[in-house]
Amino acid sequence: MQIHDTISGVRTALKAAGRVVFVPTMGNLHEGHIALMRQARQHGDCVVASIFVNRLQFRPGEDFEKYPRTMLADCDKLREAGVDHLFAPDETELYPAPQRYVVEPPAEHANILEGEFRPGHFRGVATVVMKLFGIVSPQAALFGKKDFQQFMVLSSMVREFGLPIDVIPGPTVRAADGLALSSRNGFLSAAERAEAPRLYRVLAKVIEQVRAGATDFARLEHEAMDELRAHHWAPDYIALRKQIDLQSPSAHDTGLVVLAAARLGSTRLIDNLEV
Ligand code: PAF
Repeated sequence: MQIHDTISGVRTALKAAGRVVFVPTMGNLHEGHIALMRQARQHGDCVVASIFVNRLQFRPGEDFEKYPRTMLADCDKLREAGVDHLFAPDETELYPAPQRYVVEPPAEHANILEGEFRPGHFRGVATVVMKLFGIVSPQAALFGKKDFQQFMVLSSMVREFGLPIDVIPGPTVRAADGLALSSRNGFLSAAERAEAPRLYRVLAKVIEQVRAGATDFARLEHEAMDELRAHHWAPDYIALRKQIDLQSPSAHDTGLVVLAAARLGSTRLIDNLEV
């Protein structure tokens, strides 16, 4: 695996690389990321990963500073997964000056759900991904569906800008007890880790009821949040939405997803399940 920390270096290396498949990450890689790398291999000739903890998508007081940086272990995992190139710039390479030009996703995509609780988050994500796309020039890019709203925002961005990039979803990878793999799981204490799969179970129960014909979505959402609260979680939201645009469904809509964000102790976890 070739490692590049400059924009010119990665551009030169990828000049004759054939069909480039790109998997952007913020590092601290787990099995979910590695599954994306392996999936990427099926979509092109050259798999490129990036590691960059993007300050623009964190608000002051969020976990930018304590976001785990584990470069050496990450490189070993990427090599083992057969990744061809890693682009791992530092902040001065990617943002040599304040980033004044940004991608502003529409409010109906960016200010709901995660965006309501993390204002500006999707502007930061869309801006860095657009910048990375301009550097790596991939023909395809993979993003995990655990960040369902991020996937929707980025695939909409690619479509509306007419970028010649296939945006491919990667399935959520879960631990045996159902907990979705996430870099943030490492912040959980042993007791919190034992409690954490409840988030998945609560979502699975909502899905089960929708499949059985329940259409009182607000009631399902409230019951699910109450169950979490009863076990000392602080939910930000549990919401049934349409997969296509994450807007609220009517009773006859199909193709739904239930999304959740909730804090357990000081760790904020997100998850979702499609109906
Ligand atoms: O999902 C992530 O790890 C990040 O949001 C991404 C897409 C790499 C942009 O910084």
